[in-house]
Amino acid sequence: MSTPSLLILPGDGIGPEVMAEVVKIIDWYGENRGLTFDVTMDLVGGAAYDAHGVPLSDETMAKAQEVDAVLLGAVGGPKYDTLDFSVKPERGLLRLRKEMDLFANLRPAQCFDALADFSSLKKDVVAGLDIMIVRELTSGIYFGEPRGIITENNERVGINTQRYTESEIERVARSSFELAMRRNRKLCSMEKANVMESGILWREVVTEVGKDYPDVALSHMYADAGAMQLCRWPKQFDVIVTDNLFGDLLSDAAAMLTGSLGMLPSASLGAPMANGRPKAMYEPVHGSAPDIAGQGKANPIACILSFAMALRYSFDEGEEATRLEKAIEKVLADGVRTADLLGEEGATPVSTSEMGDKIVAALDASL
Ligand code: NAD
Ligand code: IPM
Ligand code: MN
Repeated sequence: MSTPSLLILPGDGIGPEVMAEVVKIIDWYGENRGLTFDVTMDLVGGAAYDAHGVPLSDETMAKAQEVDAVLLGAVGGPKYDTLDFSVKPERGLLRLRKEMDLFANLRPAQCFDALADFSSLKKDVVAGLDIMIVRELTSGIYFGEPRGIITENNERVGINTQRYTESEIERVARSSFELAMRRNRKLCSMEKANVMESGILWREVVTEVGKDYPDVALSHMYADAGAMQLCRWPKQFDVIVTDNLFGDLLSDAAAMLTGSLGMLPSASLGAPMANGRPKAMYEPVHGSAPDIAGQGKANPIACILSFAMALRYSFDEGEEATRLEKAIEKVLADGVRTADLLGEEGATPVSTSEMGDKIVAALDASL
């Protein structure tokens, strides 16, 4: 098999800081496991805007379509807040998701034992937690037409449209049932069928797809009640499937079950390519964290766990993914903490790069 290709887009703010630690891990795999990647680095978000006047160049977009997987850090920041909407950093990320057709965004929320005391929820509620939120990523209110800001009766009106076709719901539902089959065979679908027609259709289509998966226990919940249940007793869930906007909100909420937004990875998957691998982009759930950018404070674990997901879902290296996850678990069990994983009066935090070095050392120890 030819050397697998990776496009790395560090982006803005803490994006380049956390991605530098992922590069250390990639190098480690090359030196110690014979797992080498053909790596290209490029720009996205504000960094691309500064260089090219657009948040994603056509060349970078074309490259993303060719590679085996894309790794993305984060985009955005206050410097770009006043830019025209069409060239905001976030548009670059949304273009990648849409044009690569990455419809299934897997956002696992796992509570590492060493952090069970640290979550803002009680230890009982989060200890041992391992759930997967599947967020639809290429449709819904993020992309629906009509949209825009218009003037009507002498005042401005902001418009966005929630729109889902049956086939869009069907494919993300199918991916979620497949995942549930490989996990605990429990799927909860969340929408607001009580107030939205798109929610009614969502529930009908998910139920229909469920007939092909009689071994999966399917339940439905209104997304607002789902948010409450995620905080009340998250262990009732295994896989959750939901739309683009609800998935955005629910996954940030789920981050706090794990202790920090700096812990949550994600995989955005599309249809299989000619080589059988899914089109894929891996990115932490967090953003560019302008409040801590440039200070060496960022937690790189979400981005490193996103690379572990790449090993598992794009490169068929499940055992190596587990090795990396176990190395992270060990470092956390040893009490190594970036600032986001410490309380107000906690011990001294390690820097972003020290955390990366500790994980590399734990990988060494795993050999
Ligand atoms: P954010 O995720 O950047 O930050 C929220 C809070 O979490 C901040 O206090 C931040 O310091 C903290 N945090 C986030 N990641 C962390 C990490 N790895 N280690 C330690 N602490 C971490 O969200 P925001 O402040 O709402 O958004 C900032 C910018 O990022 C905006 O421009 C937004 O659009 C963008 N954003 C980008 C992505 C992405 O690129 N995928 C995701 C979310 C937000
Ligand atoms: C995320 C982010 C993005 C989203 C933004 C930056 C476009 O919040 O990946 O969760 O809203 O999808
Ligand atoms: Mn988000």
